[in-house]
Amino acid sequence: MLVAILPGDGIGPEVTAQARRVLDALAVPGMTYESALVGGAAYHATGHPLPPETLDLAKRADAILFGAVGDPTCDSLERALRPEQAILGLRKELTLFSNLRPAKMFPELADDSTLRREIAEAIDLLIVRELNGDVYFGEKGMRRTADGLREGYDIMSYNEAEVRRIAHSAFKAAQARRGKLCSVDKANVLETSQLWRDVVIEVAADYPDVALSHMYVDNAAMQLVRNPGQFDVIVTGNLFGDILSDQASMCVGSIGMLASASLDANGKGLYEPIHGSAPDIAGQSKANPLATILSAAMMLRFSLGQAEAADRIEAAVAKALAGGARTADLGGSLSTSAMGDAVLAAL
Ligand code: NAD
Ligand code: IPM
Ligand code: MN
Repeated sequence: MLVAILPGDGIGPEVTAQARRVLDALAVPGMTYESALVGGAAYHATGHPLPPETLDLAKRADAILFGAVGDPTCDSLERALRPEQAILGLRKELTLFSNLRPAKMFPELADDSTLRREIAEAIDLLIVRELNGDVYFGEKGMRRTADGLREGYDIMSYNEAEVRRIAHSAFKAAQARRGKLCSVDKANVLETSQLWRDVVIEVAADYPDVALSHMYVDNAAMQLVRNPGQFDVIVTGNLFGDILSDQASMCVGSIGMLASASLDANGKGLYEPIHGSAPDIAGQSKANPLATILSAAMMLRFSLGQAEAADRIEAAVAKALAGGARTADLGGSLSTSAMGDAVLAAL
């Protein structure tokens, strides 16, 4: 089993290093690792954020562990050369259309949530975010209006095949959980969303055991902080899922806690924390590595057939938190590697 490790930029290398220590400690037989440059680090070294060697490694690997990309010194490059194109390119090239972003309250962190304890304690939800379409991948550009004003545009679209395949992922996820699926859209305004809703309703016929509901995204943002315990699985498009998952992360204590899996139709996946390269704390050993460590657990479970090893990581994270291990985002003072130490000790 070959795992590609793509650390990326900013805190990406800091957090992936801790996940790698945990994987090494588990010593799963037959696992090998290869690393490659991605994002700004790859741009500075090779002139491209997703060099052919990196894409090739990602294609050859059985699974990919990804840190984060994003580098403020690259923000004025032409868009195709910016670090973010690397993660967008990997998602598209490998057809990683199904992005699972679980938000579950570790009881030990209930006081770290910005929500009141009794509201936060009830959170156990999964956001299923479509990852290959939407306004992210439509035609975009800059032009001039008839009267000479600069105008930026990004076309939002989904076709029915794209909606159908993510709907199937979400219904299956709901079947494996508590059997509730909430589809989030903006069908009161957007044609893209009207098609989304129509197709999700069609797919629902195959899953009579799942209770389907629909919610507009503005209401969903409000409900997520009013009563997040009402949600089991949420399925939504690329842009809405991006925004709602950052919001969900804070409901369970920190953006440094949320792991993710981005899967293709065959279970191959890229695993990454939902956060970015955090330039404001990069290089200071302040980053919380738990989202990346928990992403490694998802990788073992979903792509490498190692559910027991995944359980062990998740239990070790819970035990470290119960023992009081806290990085700065959780109100503590542990460094990134000291949090890694705490997880290793619990393991
Ligand atoms: P960000 O997630 O990097 O940071 C937002 C805030 O959360 C910052 O204050 C940061 O310090 C904090 N934070 C993030 N992760 C943390 C962790 N593990 N521990 C403690 N604190 C943490 O979002 P941003 O600042 O909007 O973006 C920074 C760069 O990252 C941008 O270039 C952006 O495009 C990129 N980005 C990349 C990914 C990805 O690679 N998948 C995801 C999101 C953002
Ligand atoms: C994420 C990030 C990415 C996204 C960016 C860096 C392209 O915010 O993984 O959540 O918008 O999908
Ligand atoms: Mn995001």
